[in-house]
Amino acid sequence: MRTKKYLQFGVRQRLYQGSGCISMIPDILETEGWKRVMLIADPALYKIGVIDPIEKLLKDTDGVEYCVFTDIRPNPEAVTIDGKAVPLYQEFKADVMIAVGGGSTMDTAKGVAIVGDSGKKCMDFVGIPQHKPLPHHTYPMIAVPTTAGTGSDVCINAVICDEKGFKLVPSHDCLLPAYSLMDPDMLAGLPFSVAAATSVDTLTHALESYTNMNANDFTELFSLRSLELVGEAIRPFCANPAVDEYANKMSLACMYAGFSLGIASIGQDHVITHPMSEEPFHMPHGDACGMALPAVIEWNAMGCKEKYRKAYNALTKKQVALEDFDVKMLIDWVIELNRDLNIAQNKTFEEWGYNDGEVLQLMLKHPIFNNKDKTKNSDCNYPRVTRMKEFEHIIKRINDYSKVQAGKPKD
Ligand SMILES: [Fe+2]
Repeated sequence: MRTKKYLQFGVRQRLYQGSGCISMIPDILETEGWKRVMLIADPALYKIGVIDPIEKLLKDTDGVEYCVFTDIRPNPEAVTIDGKAVPLYQEFKADVMIAVGGGSTMDTAKGVAIVGDSGKKCMDFVGIPQHKPLPHHTYPMIAVPTTAGTGSDVCINAVICDEKGFKLVPSHDCLLPAYSLMDPDMLAGLPFSVAAATSVDTLTHALESYTNMNANDFTELFSLRSLELVGEAIRPFCANPAVDEYANKMSLACMYAGFSLGIASIGQDHVITHPMSEEPFHMPHGDACGMALPAVIEWNAMGCKEKYRKAYNALTKKQVALEDFDVKMLIDWVIELNRDLNIAQNKTFEEWGYNDGEVLQLMLKHPIFNNKDKTKNSDCNYPRVTRMKEFEHIIKRINDYSKVQAGKPKD
C-alpha cells in the first residue's frame, strides 16, 4: 500500500482512559455479545492480586464465564502461544480475550489473535501485508495495560520470539485490540525499576515516532503531547506510581506515543534494542531503549536538529531558539534521566556483557538487521540514512555513552 503520498491516521478501536475505566468491561462484553472470556494475565501480577478487580468484574457479570491463562514469559515464545494459549482459547470456546499486563502479556494475546482458527502458527504471519484482510477468523481482544510503557494496546505490532530466541514482529490490523482500557489505577503497584524502564520506553516511542520520516501532522501532535507529559510526569510517576496525577499523565503519554508509533514507526533505537534484550545481555526492553538513546540521537542530529529542539522544549518546558540549541542538550537531558531512573542499573554496556569484537559481531548478525544494506535511501524512514556500518558505529557509541551515564571514565 502506498503510504507516503498522503497523510494517514486511523483509530479502529474504542479507547477508554481514566481512573476506574476497567469498570467498562461488563458493558463492553454485553454490547459485543461476548460471554466466554479468556483472561490472559501477567503471572506475577496475578499472584499478588493486581488482576483481582478484573476477575471480580467477570465473576459478578451474569452470563459470563472465563478461564485464566498466565503462562507468560518476559519475551513470549511462539511455541507457548501455539502449543498452549491457542488450544486453551479453542477448547474453552472463548469469544474474546482480556489481556492484563505489560508488553509480553499483550504480545501473547496478539499471537493467539492472529492465529485464530487458521490452523497455522503465529510465526507464519511474520511479514504479511499489514492491512490486507486475512481469510480466516481472528480472535478479538480487550487490552488492559499495567505499565505506562509499551503502547502495544494501541498498535498493530506484536513482538514474539521464534524457536532460536530471536524476536520477530508480526504486524497486522487484527493485532489492534478491539478495546483498550488505560486505567491509571492499574499502575499503582509498579516497582520502581519496571516503572522506570517502561516509562523510558514511552519516551523513546514518542521521540522516535516524532523524528521518523513517516511522521505527519497527525502523528506529530500526539508525539509532542506525549513528550510534554513525559517531561512533567516521568520522575514523580516512577517515584510513586500510586499518585493519580502522574499516573494519569504517564498513561496518556504512553497512549499518545503508541498512536504515533503505529503510523510513523520506530527508529534505529528500536532496531538495536532487539539484540540488546537477547543473548548475552537479556536487558529489559525499556532499559535497552534508554541506554541506546543518547547514541541514536547523536547519530541522527544532522538529520533532525529542529525536531530535536522542539522535543527538548516539550520535555523541559523551555523555549530554546534554534540558534541557541545544541543536540547535546537533549543527549545530556536523556543521560541525566537515565541516571536518575537507574536505567540499565547504571551499569556500562561492557558490564552487561558487551565487547567490541565477538559480541558486537554477534549483535550485527541479528535478523533485525537483514536488508539494512539493501534498502534504498528513499525508502529509509530514519531521520538519517543508516546502513550496517553506521549501526556498528552507533552500537560502539552506546558503549561510550553508557560509561558517561555510569560516571566511568572513557577508555
Ligand atoms: Fe518500545
